[in-house]
Amino acid sequence: MSTFTAIAASEPGPATLQQLTDDDLPEGDVTVDVAWSSLNYKDGLAVTGKGKIMRSHPMVAGIDLAGVVSASDSPDWKVGDEVLVTGWGLSEAHPGGFTQRQRVQSSWLTARPEGLTLQQTMAVGTAGLTAMLCVLALEHAGVTPGDGEVVVTGAGGGVGSVAVAVLASLGHTVAASTGRAETHDYLRSLGATTIVDRAELATAGRPLDKERWNGGVDTVGSQTLATVLAQTRYRGAVAACGLAGGNDLPTTVLPFILRNVALLGVDSVSCPTPVRAEAWRRLGTDLPTDLLDAMTTVEPMSKVPELAEQILAGQTRGRVVVDTSA
Ligand SMILES: NC(=O)c1ccc[n+]([C@@H]2O[C@H](COP(=O)([O-])OP(=O)(O)OC[C@H]3O[C@@H](n4cnc5c(N)ncnc54)[C@H](OP(=O)(O)O)[C@@H]3O)[C@@H](O)[C@H]2O)c1
Repeated sequence: MSTFTAIAASEPGPATLQQLTDDDLPEGDVTVDVAWSSLNYKDGLAVTGKGKIMRSHPMVAGIDLAGVVSASDSPDWKVGDEVLVTGWGLSEAHPGGFTQRQRVQSSWLTARPEGLTLQQTMAVGTAGLTAMLCVLALEHAGVTPGDGEVVVTGAGGGVGSVAVAVLASLGHTVAASTGRAETHDYLRSLGATTIVDRAELATAGRPLDKERWNGGVDTVGSQTLATVLAQTRYRGAVAACGLAGGNDLPTTVLPFILRNVALLGVDSVSCPTPVRAEAWRRLGTDLPTDLLDAMTTVEPMSKVPELAEQILAGQTRGRVVVDTSA
């Protein structure tokens, strides 16, 4: 029986590099030789054991995976197909993507989108998919380029970096909010025209502040989201997807009932397949691959425990692709 390497936790607590065998694979109708995974904030919580992400043990960490089908009982997929999975409970209820081999449900698989390599699909990963879902939500709410600035909070992170690049490439004027001075040039290179100090948005202001934003993509939550809502123009919209600054929301109803501001919730984990397909199609057309490559670093899987601490500390920039062979 062949063995393979994975980052897994046998019990609640930190996940570590372990050797597994095919007997450890879960139920599913498609087996994937995993080539790449990616690091997301939720992986930081799961791998360090600091967040209750894994709902049972033993559990392989990693909410994303990309690779090649090595066995299939599904009529939809054949050996050799290049596929990816993001979300769908990987590393929560089902063993995840920090591994060289995984078995999954065929309905979770997405074929590698046209125009992206397998490695680039993981540069996008859950974070990039979420950023695109935020952009689609803003478009649906009527936020269009040319009507003013769109603010992206936590801009130096994974979701933030992809959101900045996509919004700018679509013609929006993008304000990037960051707490790290060293990311200013990087964020401008992705297309941001204004940099906002994270502290400015993290400070409580008036319930209705000066109208500043046409729309927003918020990855931070808490007071930052409350401030963005208070500064959003009449009939503007804010897509909320994250909690890097906290899961509370100290706001009032005033932006909603006096300015008709829309607060748009975004979840990528259980996002329905047709919406995902549209988001991946749009990532293929609206995320310039040179910018995707510029925001990506590739790291060996053996370094994931260290990287997990770094992402929780807000020290990683852009997207981190995980090479499962190393
Ligand atoms: N809803 C969903 O389906 C979904 C999917 C993916 C991610 N998320 C959530 O979205 C958020 C971002 O995920 P990610 O993978 O992009 O993480 P990430 O790469 O760590 O980015 C988060 C960024 O937020 C900023 N930040 C960190 N700590 C902060 C604090 N205490 N106060 C204010 N800003 C802080 C930092 O940006 P600067 O240094 O530039 O300020 C950091 O780079 C996370 O909360 C994650 O759980 C949700």
